[in-house]
Amino acid sequence: MKKIRIGVIGLGHNGRAFCDIYAERSDCELVAVCDLDNSRVEDAVSTYGCKGYTNYEILQDPSIEVISIHTSDNAHREPFIKAIETGHHVFVEKPMADTLEDVEAMVAAYRAHPDCIAAVGHVLRFNRYFEIIKKWVDLGLLGDIFYMEGDYIHDLRYQYYMEDWKISKEIPMLGGGCHPLDLLRWYAGDVTEVTAFSNHIAYPEMAEDASMVAIFKFAGGATGKVTSLYGPCSPMPYGYNLSIYGTKGTVVRDKVSFDGLGHQWMDIPDTFDPTHSYVPEVEHFLDCVRTEKNLWLHRRSPPTPLSLLCMRYALPKKKPSLRCHRSDFRNFPKIVLTNVPRCGMMSLKLNKGC
Ligand SMILES: NC(=O)c1ccc[n+]([C@@H]2O[C@H](COP(=O)([O-])OP(=O)(O)OC[C@H]3O[C@@H](n4cnc5c(N)ncnc54)[C@H](O)[C@@H]3O)[C@@H](O)[C@H]2O)c1
Repeated sequence: MKKIRIGVIGLGHNGRAFCDIYAERSDCELVAVCDLDNSRVEDAVSTYGCKGYTNYEILQDPSIEVISIHTSDNAHREPFIKAIETGHHVFVEKPMADTLEDVEAMVAAYRAHPDCIAAVGHVLRFNRYFEIIKKWVDLGLLGDIFYMEGDYIHDLRYQYYMEDWKISKEIPMLGGGCHPLDLLRWYAGDVTEVTAFSNHIAYPEMAEDASMVAIFKFAGGATGKVTSLYGPCSPMPYGYNLSIYGTKGTVVRDKVSFDGLGHQWMDIPDTFDPTHSYVPEVEHFLDCVRTEKNLWLHRRSPPTPLSLLCMRYALPKKKPSLRCHRSDFRNFPKIVLTNVPRCGMMSLKLNKGC
């Protein structure tokens, strides 16, 4: 099998985890890495025996087919657009970007290069536990969904001593909240309306409010709530807080109950894996690139024509309405809207027959 040749931009925690995966696989080759921090480049070059760059000259290497982007949330736009414009397929970490302007520019670049296969790394879609729930939703076993809740609640106060952008720039509803929000969108479709609140009480060292909650209305009529907290003063108990209420079934954390089965709770038959499902995510993305098919969305969503999926994931016709109940909210509402309708997993190949 021909090896897919890969370049990685961004060599922090997440970028190195992907380097490890690319370097170990037999169907791809980690050709080069790039980071602004030369010491990170040198360390990666000596670990993987690849080429190293501290600038976007990595994009001039004609042998690289795929660029994998793992820079900070606020620095996805430039490498994403440059990589597409130099003819690469692109994987970019979630959240796709942290401003509406960046996402629009990225989507425009993507649409202008229809041969490009691009993916945004919403990794929870590759966790067996969430996949099982998705199957139930698609089979109608939960009935019509009318309410959902998800959250991202972690004590991240240790980051104060580590990465600067996570203190000065990260927006909890995007960095962490995009995980449960993506699940809710996966299960109930696009968001049409959002209202949000936040405060600066816990973890005040962060520039953005570290406690955010948003409620959503979805296209099918369901409502939902996502909370993102970075400063709780305790470790969180094991598990994932996800609740889905449908007319025929209810999911609460690791339990499910189906209407008509005697009000019984059953364990969801695949235990929740708390590790990042990066390996199946990478596997699937490489499949998309190798076969030049839109496997990602076909496997994860109904096989709708690609152009419709693109509308749904990238360019929804109708913009959601917005209400905001806090005067000092800074960029938050704008950014939530950015991430909600536009930043689903894109792995679209817009060509003939779509
Ligand atoms: N899918 C997940 O579950 C998950 C988990 C963790 C992080 N992430 C995402 O991965 C991305 C990276 O997070 P991280 O924790 O590794 O951050 P990090 O701060 O550890 O690493 C970011 C790296 O990018 C480099 N960088 C920044 N701008 C650059 C540029 N223009 N060109 C080249 N290098 C640049 C920095 O020098 C740094 O080495 C973020 O978007 C984050 O939200 C996703």
